Amino acid sequence: MENERKKRILSGIQPTGTPTLGNYVGALKNWVDLQKEDKYECFYMIADLHSITVKQDPKVLRKNSLDLLALLLAAGLDGEKEPIFFQSHVPQHSQLGWVLDCYTYMGELSRMTQFKDKSAKHAENINAGLFTYPALMAADILLYQADMVPVGKDQKQHLEITRDLAKRFNGAYSDTFVVPEPYIPKVGANIMSLQDPMHKMSKSDTNENAYISVLDDPDRIMKKIKRAVTDSEACVRRGEGKEAVENLMTIYSVATGKTMEEIEKEFDGQGYGVFKEKVGEAVVEMLRPIQENYNEIMKNKDYLEKIYRDGAERARYVANKTVSKVYRKVGFIQP
Ligand code: TRP
Repeated sequence: MENERKKRILSGIQPTGTPTLGNYVGALKNWVDLQKEDKYECFYMIADLHSITVKQDPKVLRKNSLDLLALLLAAGLDGEKEPIFFQSHVPQHSQLGWVLDCYTYMGELSRMTQFKDKSAKHAENINAGLFTYPALMAADILLYQADMVPVGKDQKQHLEITRDLAKRFNGAYSDTFVVPEPYIPKVGANIMSLQDPMHKMSKSDTNENAYISVLDDPDRIMKKIKRAVTDSEACVRRGEGKEAVENLMTIYSVATGKTMEEIEKEFDGQGYGVFKEKVGEAVVEMLRPIQENYNEIMKNKDYLEKIYRDGAERARYVANKTVSKVYRKVGFIQP
């Protein structure tokens, strides 16, 4: 049975604010495309347990969590076909997380660049959860025996440690976990900050003009694109020192499906004013249906509740099998 099943994908996203255009293109859209492709069985999780490694206001966390679920559905995920769930609704994450904590070395965890970055950024709150975060993430993945995990560059190191942990445990106790592979999406577009093309677009940027939120209204989107930094050449093309323009071209490409070459031709001989107008309009059009769906879904709290309850139930069923196996293997008495 186990090897007849479709390959399984698991991915997670933290409910720490409205996703940006960068999150949409880099993660959400891929999730939707992967599910539509129907080649894999997809489990998608809202990683609320992970989000409290950084201080959260409970009201805001609650709102962000439900908003994110609605957005995922609005972007096209089918929560009836496959589970979308909150990590905190599946206690097995913490149950396996603890066991994996005991198989993860302090040395490995101290090498994690995300830990170093986040502890520099939140120097007043360097907590143990922030440190053991990768072991919990490993539990998220290994619980579902996921074959593949779509992750961005910033999470590669966490997937590496997950693989090490899976092999370490399998080696000590016989085969227990599938060793997951990173899933690299076919078209990976990195969307950079509109104010500094050397940095990723981020929702935690202190300058609001640096990012577009997927729920920004058309007016705001147009303004932010118009304020985006460019260069003094006034020519829409790629090249040395043209990272800012190239970023806008990438955004336009994602929104319209046009290639970079087509875009260079389209704006040949035109300045940035015309170009930015077109980029802004394309982004507005790309986000419009998502925003409309989102507004509809948010009116139907019962539907949202049904999705996350069903999702958690299906997730618990799979996760529980793994935890039982692990608890037996490490030597706990069967309850
Ligand atoms: N750590 C991931 C992030 O911050 C979110 C996450 C938690 C995740 N658990 C996961 C991603 C499991 C993939 C698989 O982006």
